[in-house]
Amino acid sequence: MSIELIPAVDLASYTTLGVGGKADYFVRIERVKEVPWLCEKIISMSCPLTILGGGSNVLVSDSGVRGVVALMAIVGIDTKEEGDDVLVRVGAGVVFDDLVEYCARQGWWGLENLSHIPGTVGATPIQNVGAYGVEVSEVIDTVQVFDRQKERFIDMLASDCGFQYRDSLFKSAKGRFIVVSVTFRLSKKPMPKLHYADLNQYFISKKNIDVCDVRKAVVEIRSNKFPKWQDGLVGTAGSFFKNPIVDETTLARLKAKCPDLPVYEVGNGKVKLSLGWILDKLLNRKGYKKGAVGHYEKQALVLVVDHKKSSAEEIDLFAKEVEDLVNSELGIKIEREVTMVGV
Ligand code: EPU
Repeated sequence: MSIELIPAVDLASYTTLGVGGKADYFVRIERVKEVPWLCEKIISMSCPLTILGGGSNVLVSDSGVRGVVALMAIVGIDTKEEGDDVLVRVGAGVVFDDLVEYCARQGWWGLENLSHIPGTVGATPIQNVGAYGVEVSEVIDTVQVFDRQKERFIDMLASDCGFQYRDSLFKSAKGRFIVVSVTFRLSKKPMPKLHYADLNQYFISKKNIDVCDVRKAVVEIRSNKFPKWQDGLVGTAGSFFKNPIVDETTLARLKAKCPDLPVYEVGNGKVKLSLGWILDKLLNRKGYKKGAVGHYEKQALVLVVDHKKSSAEEIDLFAKEVEDLVNSELGIKIEREVTMVGV
């Protein structure tokens, strides 16, 4: 088998932030059997391998990425019914929202709260994508990966994937596993999850809700909070930071300073804070801009950049400024949700 490795490919257009340098080599992976071939090739070249999906959650360094960048482009959807459940096995390169739309149209429940999330299917288990009260791990049955250490394919049960808030084993095992497909367990029986405040409000007086109604509501709510990157005017990677999870002592300290701070219980005596709220209401950063980078005017957790006018360095410096500000004002160390590539 021989797949072309293309030298010196510009990566900016493969990411939604629209910045960054070149990959030493670039390759499109369209078939499952190309994955072991690629891994062998990487061993013979003794260079790093970076897998890219929709590029909606990465910041690529201006000096580019050493080694090979592989665009995951394996597509295909297989379905199997099991009683009221439908098992949907999907290639890692399928656009996630195309899948969400397809499943909603079939009347299958489970993914609708995750409507309009950019990126590909293969990226969703890696950072355990979540929105509007649902995390993708709740509907994942298995994840098929190529294990580069054992040099074989494995079907990993959701319970073995180490899923946590915006985290998984795939993230912590740094490059060991390449996701090739994800199997979702959806339901033909109605299962509306409407507890998230915005959705609850939307459906407050509505009855007989179907799955397409929920998708429509999420799309509407999201479009009021997130910039439209598809038209190419604005670069963004959605939430740039994770919402911080703090213990009771930190919470007590913060509550003394700011009694109306919204908190969400996550178990083990810990709570999740809304960084968007903190940046907006406490630190007055909503809509704040410096050079070509700023906080989105409708959602402070989302950073936006003027397309083609910024650089990875400028975005990185802006993000560092936010990290330092939150640390100095509130004594909390925040983490990035966006993955840094080539730095
Ligand atoms: N808020 C403000 N001002 C802001 C932003 C938020 O007051 O500028 C308040 C909101 O009014 C709300 C609370 O903060 O009371 C939480 O805001 P929101 O519902 O918008 O959600 P979030 O916690 O900021 C998370 C995810 C998003 C996801 C939304 C909706 C993370 C890091 N982000 O944002 O995911 O779409 O919930 O469920 O967990 C992404 O990961 O890229 C992403 C977009």
